[in-house]
Amino acid sequence: NVLILDFGSQYTQLIARRVRELNIYCEIHPYNKIPENLNDFKAVILSGSPSSVRSDEAPHPDLSEIRGKKPLLAVCYGAQYLAHFSGGLVAPSNTREYGRANLSFVKENEDFFKNISEGSQVWMSHSDTIKELPTGGTLLASTHDVQNAAYKIEGETTYAIQFHPEVYHSTDGKQLLENFLVNIAEVAQTWTPASFVDETVADIKAKVGNDKVVLGLSGGVDSTVAAVLLHKAIGSNLHCIFVNNGLLRKNEFTDVLKQYEGMGLNVKGVDASARFLNELAGLSDPEAKRKAIGKVFIDVFDDEANQIEDAKWLAQGTIYPDVIESVSVNGGPSATIKSHHNVGGLPDFMKLKIVEPLRMIFKDEVRRVGASMGIDKELLGRHPFPGPGLAIRILGDITSEKVRILQEVDAIFINGLKESGLYNKVWQAGAILLPVNSVGVMGDERTYEKVVALRAVESTDGMTADWVNLPYEFLQKTSNKIINNVKGVNRVVYDISSKPPATIEWE
Ligand code: XMP
Repeated sequence: NVLILDFGSQYTQLIARRVRELNIYCEIHPYNKIPENLNDFKAVILSGSPSSVRSDEAPHPDLSEIRGKKPLLAVCYGAQYLAHFSGGLVAPSNTREYGRANLSFVKENEDFFKNISEGSQVWMSHSDTIKELPTGGTLLASTHDVQNAAYKIEGETTYAIQFHPEVYHSTDGKQLLENFLVNIAEVAQTWTPASFVDETVADIKAKVGNDKVVLGLSGGVDSTVAAVLLHKAIGSNLHCIFVNNGLLRKNEFTDVLKQYEGMGLNVKGVDASARFLNELAGLSDPEAKRKAIGKVFIDVFDDEANQIEDAKWLAQGTIYPDVIESVSVNGGPSATIKSHHNVGGLPDFMKLKIVEPLRMIFKDEVRRVGASMGIDKELLGRHPFPGPGLAIRILGDITSEKVRILQEVDAIFINGLKESGLYNKVWQAGAILLPVNSVGVMGDERTYEKVVALRAVESTDGMTADWVNLPYEFLQKTSNKIINNVKGVNRVVYDISSKPPATIEWE
């Protein structure tokens, strides 16, 4: 188990991912909340930070329980922090030190740089620089512009690097982390999807016992994997609820329900389409629509959960990035992007305790865990789909006719992507129904019908995204198929906006 102390770098999560890729478990904690159970951690990594160590407001935690007592790797700000407070010198750098650099010197016979040689590309991102090493420091590597790119402290298992091993552009970054964690700190590489499943199932059994658990399934990856884990642990004491809000994709409710039943899950499908559409009638403001959907969902879910007698727990598919984001929001160091509705969790109306089996793992790990439990590949590879569903892709007010049109268009687009082998190359795709009519001509007749937009984006986490350069031929075929088959649509456009400044969804 490895502890990562977060000083607010945008790359902190990447450090955790790289460590996990080495099959080593790690946890991120904010620098101002160092965990008390330090004995549980075999090694510590200090992250980078947007701050300057020379500033009074910068993070200056007390590391006396860590330094010299455990193997320590200090990255970027961490490296400067150690230097600044232990007899070294940190000052603003004269040259810009961002982006690509190459190691021009690497000290020989150092375990830390095993299998990494001069010339190796590293990624820099800092405005201060270490002018003098701290007391006991030995230089391990330099780049052309950065003399003190890596050092160790004699008499301790403390290593420090100015560059970022966690980004892919540091080509030997993973090797460096392996050298430190495996060869130097001797941390065991036992974190695998299968071991995660075993441990989590045992944890759930211990925590939940013979209690009943309620879980809301969405058809998405996270809630499905959470459900299968809980099912493994407690069998039919897990009660899943899958709500049809009438805003799902074409046939999605029945298809997904069937798939869940095939997996042996105890699922109740609740068709509440009419309730949702009634509540939405006449609403065209995006926020009003979202709120209405949220409210009906809570009502429906509450009704259903109350029918499960003696339910004691609510299970959620919260994953690690949501948890980290909410830690940041609640006093951690990184900039607040958004607060996540899943975390901090219990809606007042449900007096249930919370169980979140995925709260310590990343999306790609969720997929690996799912695959190791035999969950269908297609289900695990599904594109993200927003909770409010097609409601935020039908601009303006919502009617069942508009839902039908958009379901048809979406199905043609998504099936087309699958048939052309493009689906897995796209992070998320969907269609948007615009609130305008345009003039067309079909078989000598004038038409005056709806416009739909197609959107396909690449992304890693949905926070930033770029539109996908889909082949013209594919767009051409898809457009023809939509206009020829979907009554009420006579024009198709393709969305070529990135996020930011646009967003992925239109509402
Ligand atoms: P935006 O539109 O903010 O979307 O660029 C980023 C990602 O989040 C999804 N999204 C939502 N998911 N409830 C959800 O569960 C929502 O209200 C919601 N709004 C957007 C969106 O589909 C994309 O993957």
